[in-house]
Amino acid sequence: MSVKIWIDGVIHGPETAVVPVFDRGFLYGDSVYEVTRTAGGRPVDLGPHLDRLDRSAETIALPLPPRADIERAVAATLAAAGNPESYLRIVVTRGAGEIGLDIALADKTRTVVIVKPLELPAERLYREGAPIRIVEVQRVHRRAVDPAVKSGNYLNNILALAEARRSGAYEAIMCDAGGRIAEGSTSNLFVVRGGRLATPALEVGLLAGITRQTVLGLAAGAGLAVDEGELVPDDVRGADEAFLTSSVRGVMPVGTVDDRPLGRPVPGPVTARIMELYDRHLAEAARS
Ligand code: PDD
Repeated sequence: MSVKIWIDGVIHGPETAVVPVFDRGFLYGDSVYEVTRTAGGRPVDLGPHLDRLDRSAETIALPLPPRADIERAVAATLAAAGNPESYLRIVVTRGAGEIGLDIALADKTRTVVIVKPLELPAERLYREGAPIRIVEVQRVHRRAVDPAVKSGNYLNNILALAEARRSGAYEAIMCDAGGRIAEGSTSNLFVVRGGRLATPALEVGLLAGITRQTVLGLAAGAGLAVDEGELVPDDVRGADEAFLTSSVRGVMPVGTVDDRPLGRPVPGPVTARIMELYDRHLAEAARS
């Protein structure tokens, strides 16, 4: 089991994996990234993750290295780490340059691939459900830093999570300025009401989660209706069930919202079904 980091063609251990202080990823969060996990040693949904990396980079006019180079870096770093299962993070920064915001100051992009042994969230969170809090910190507007861009600029999410953690919650749920539910600090949110699934529409301003997309497909395949639309905090507080999705967490049931329990048992029947289908998705990814 080991931690390996690819930086522009060289694989390091954690002690020597450093980037220059003039890198714009360090100075400004001027970077894009992706996170996934392996199943059977293979990165889960790497194609969709690299597609999203493309979209993020295009939106912020960051030129990416060719996809084949990124795929080779991922394969080499996973092989060097040799873990049974890994956490995988791909980061491309705009590179270093003279201090200043002008993107023309950047020299050339820097590609970093971080591979660590996979550590899943505590089993208790899946058994009892995660405590979530709908926080005061608002999700940034699409015309500011578009939440659809998976950039290294995470201060919005960091502040939201800090607020949630101060009250003992595991995840923060942010609303937009209009009070509509957007997403978690590193997750998307689904609720179940009267047997129907619902999740905020992308138009609200949130990351198009790869796990969210997979769950939408799995639910449709199982004949479960999902409404993508507008949710307000009371829709979450009054839900029968709710769950979080993200690439490393998978599907995690919610236990309490703002300290009040949702319906029992946890996971509820619809959430349990989605968890089972997602486990199958991972098992297929391990075989493919
Ligand atoms: N975060 N929303 C935000 C703001 C996120 O940062 C993430 C993922 C998600 C879920 O997306 P996906 O299903 O593609 O993982 C939603 C990753 C896991 C992270 O930053 O570690």
